[in-house]
Amino acid sequence: MPRPRQITIIWQLLMESSVKGKHIVLGITGGIAAYKSVTLLRLLVKNGAEVQVVITPSGKEFITPVTLSALSGKPVVSEFFTANTGEWHSHVDLGLWADLMVIAPATASTIGKMANGIADNMLVTTYLSAKEHVMIAPAMDLDMMAHPSTSRNLALLRQDGVEIIEPAAGELASHLIGKGRMEEPENIFRRIEEYFAGERKMAGKKVAITAGPTYEKLDPVRFIGNYSTGKMGLALAEEFADAGADVTLICGPVSLKTDNPKIRRIDVESAEEMLKASEEPFAKADIGIFAAAVADYRPESRADSKIKREGVEDMSLKLVKNPDIAATLAAKKRDGQQFIGFALETDHAHENAAAKLKKKNLDAVVLNSLQDKGAGFGTDTNKITILCADGSEKTYPLKSKREVARDIIDFIGRVNAAR
Ligand code: C5P
Repeated sequence: MPRPRQITIIWQLLMESSVKGKHIVLGITGGIAAYKSVTLLRLLVKNGAEVQVVITPSGKEFITPVTLSALSGKPVVSEFFTANTGEWHSHVDLGLWADLMVIAPATASTIGKMANGIADNMLVTTYLSAKEHVMIAPAMDLDMMAHPSTSRNLALLRQDGVEIIEPAAGELASHLIGKGRMEEPENIFRRIEEYFAGERKMAGKKVAITAGPTYEKLDPVRFIGNYSTGKMGLALAEEFADAGADVTLICGPVSLKTDNPKIRRIDVESAEEMLKASEEPFAKADIGIFAAAVADYRPESRADSKIKREGVEDMSLKLVKNPDIAATLAAKKRDGQQFIGFALETDHAHENAAAKLKKKNLDAVVLNSLQDKGAGFGTDTNKITILCADGSEKTYPLKSKREVARDIIDFIGRVNAAR
């Protein structure tokens, strides 16, 4: 029987917030919602986080650095230099120090500067030097929120891996009603806790992911391909790496870059090359994800020099079937391995996805229907339903591809915990 003191210690450990001991840069910009950042700061500090506040010059018009430094226990950083001593504040050091950077509120102006690398204040320079995850909680009037330039900048930030904590709809400082109210500080705090709780949940796991399209060569200058951009597969690779996994990404021709040193990337072109490169990583993987849009057919023969049109009226191409990478590798699945496929469907989506799950020997299929607005190729968002081999399924609302990737990881985590 544990004694009362032991029970207290166990209870304290169970109740300990995941933010404890974490280094957080809290960025504050010039919006009315800045007063809510005080509550966020208090929650973080009370739960054991070390917080460094960085405030923009206009942020100081809304909330005083004195309040913020008293609550955080650290002088607030705003300028590049302290005027009277000439002491330089290093955004590089701050960027390295931070386990997480949260900007709340994030105004349209700061969002625009971040998206375009306009580093004219300490907050944006710190953002550009931040090595770890960045979250922003936008806050602005509804017209500014709905403006195409805000949407464009937010889309750019999403692409750069920044997590957007969506503003809520409600009464705004202008007394207008609409979307633009900063998410409540309690909810932002909860999301930060979730982030740190999830940080290591894939630690030690080996993950293999296929992504992007395949190009099937006709001659040295032409190919058969598809519209896949690899965004979903790359978002999965980034999120698994952030969750501590050891990730191998087998990627068809895409323009997106992967800078994350925790991701081993193998670039391939055709389906046959993708299968060859995937054999070993999938054999060794605990979790395998087939997110590539693999061409089903390839030209039977490939010309060594450019095919000429002179003297040729009609042309027909003979195509032969490509290997089904998911089915081939999932046929060799070992006990304990989890393999997940994607299904991008135009009609009879649910039936087709359920059939794929069985036929390809997968543990789950992530269904995205081309009939859902915002889902599918090239978009920054996706709307998914996960169908599981045990017959269970879960549908999610439209979200950014990074958030969708997080949902997929949470789903796998829950399935594993229930095993
Ligand atoms: O049959 P369909 O192409 O719709 O199945 C989609 C799923 O199968 C995706 O997970 C895709 O990555 C995978 N696939 C594959 N090799 C193929 C075709 C599809 O790995 N040749």
